[in-house]
Amino acid sequence: MPQDSLTITDNRTGRTYEVPVAEGTVRATDLRQIKVADDDFGLMTYDPAFMNTAACRSAITYIDGDRGILRYRGYPIEQLAERASFLEVAYLLMVGELPTRQQLDTWTDTVKYHTYVHTNITKFLEGFRYDAHPMGMLLGVVGALSTFYPDAKHIDDPANRELQRVRLLAKAPTIAAFAFRHSRGLPFVFPDNDLDYIANFVNMTFSIGGRHKPNKVLQRALEILLILHADHEQNCSTSAVRAVGSSHVDPFSAVSAGIAALYGPLHGGANEAVLAMLDEIGDKKNIPAFIKEVKGGGGRLMGFGHRVYKSYDPRAKLIKKVADDVFAQTGLNPKLEIALELERIALEDEYFAKRKLYPNVDFYSGLIYQAMGYPTEYFTVLFALGRMPGWLAQWEEMLLDKDQKIARPRQIYTGKDERPFVPIEKR
Ligand code: CMC
Repeated sequence: MPQDSLTITDNRTGRTYEVPVAEGTVRATDLRQIKVADDDFGLMTYDPAFMNTAACRSAITYIDGDRGILRYRGYPIEQLAERASFLEVAYLLMVGELPTRQQLDTWTDTVKYHTYVHTNITKFLEGFRYDAHPMGMLLGVVGALSTFYPDAKHIDDPANRELQRVRLLAKAPTIAAFAFRHSRGLPFVFPDNDLDYIANFVNMTFSIGGRHKPNKVLQRALEILLILHADHEQNCSTSAVRAVGSSHVDPFSAVSAGIAALYGPLHGGANEAVLAMLDEIGDKKNIPAFIKEVKGGGGRLMGFGHRVYKSYDPRAKLIKKVADDVFAQTGLNPKLEIALELERIALEDEYFAKRKLYPNVDFYSGLIYQAMGYPTEYFTVLFALGRMPGWLAQWEEMLLDKDQKIARPRQIYTGKDERPFVPIEKR
């Protein structure tokens, strides 16, 4: 009997099966041979929310949730956050290796070449209400890019895929900045390709009448935040990009599905929810009552807990350092005091300790974004800008993976058995 196998005895039939174990997994389809009768469909696994199912093999991001480790293509997140630029990390994720100086220069030029959007997109944005949520705008406009670039549907052509991936990476900051300007009723500022990726985005967002005093410390802080968000293996939005992309739709449509998933308060929307929670708490003296309410089932401590990390999220540790740099420039955000105290009390509380609930990436990021001048509803847009290279890397990997097919989970049917149609007058 091979050692790397699992022996399963089906007590319904008394039959025994041998199933290979590879990379710590069994193939769910290997269970299909386990049947009680010839016409039986075969054994399935039931795993809502993919709690214990690997849906792909991936060489992009490694996470060890118990030890608080995060690596992109093998490089520790701490080293990338300290030493790399965002475009360097994007190259690493999307191409697979860190670029040489020459590769980085070419990559940077290529991205800059594609920063402009068709002017019709500005008209399109103007159609949104003044109070439209910027994530809704981003989601709509990124999806609409497929109509501007119908060639994007040729997903079997590697050169074409490359072009669309660069387009998305280059245009996302422009669209995000335009959404910001629209919310404020400000005229759009077009890309300035003499500036680097981050400086250009900040300029398009904040420049008024051509006047914007760049703050290099804040720009680097934003760059680090985007690096920390750049990929996180098979999270909800990445799984959405992969699932939608598996239908072989164009990448703009697939990524807009990722943006939609990220919009939700349990995912990217949590940073916005953290600020709302801190506002609701209002004062340090109200923290014990708030914690009591959470423990009693009256809501969640937003920015705490993670499906994968069962220890301190390494990104949250790095973000705390970034916060120090930012607040040294902008002055202290009064909500930081509440957040620090909330963290201290929660980490000492048995409820959170027992469930291994620690601060995640979103606990402090919102405070930093707010200090930089972004409104709360814009935080998730910044998360989306950071996650773009991850989505694009995962989309490409999914398409090249011979094991992948159109995503199509099974179900356990719990509805009625066959019954005859009842005419309306008899119901
Ligand atoms: N506050 C209070 N209790 C919590 C929290 C929280 N933030 N998170 C989980 N729990 C409890 C939950 O009630 C459950 O308790 P019990 O076993 O008594 O029923 C237990 O911990 C396990 O929770 P779960 O919902 O089964 O865990 P999950 O892995 O399905 O959820 C999560 C992960 C991130 C959705 C969840 O921790 C959460 O809702 N956190 C708050 C929202 C948040 O900060 N999201 C950002 C995630 S990080 C950024 C990103 O990846 O988008």
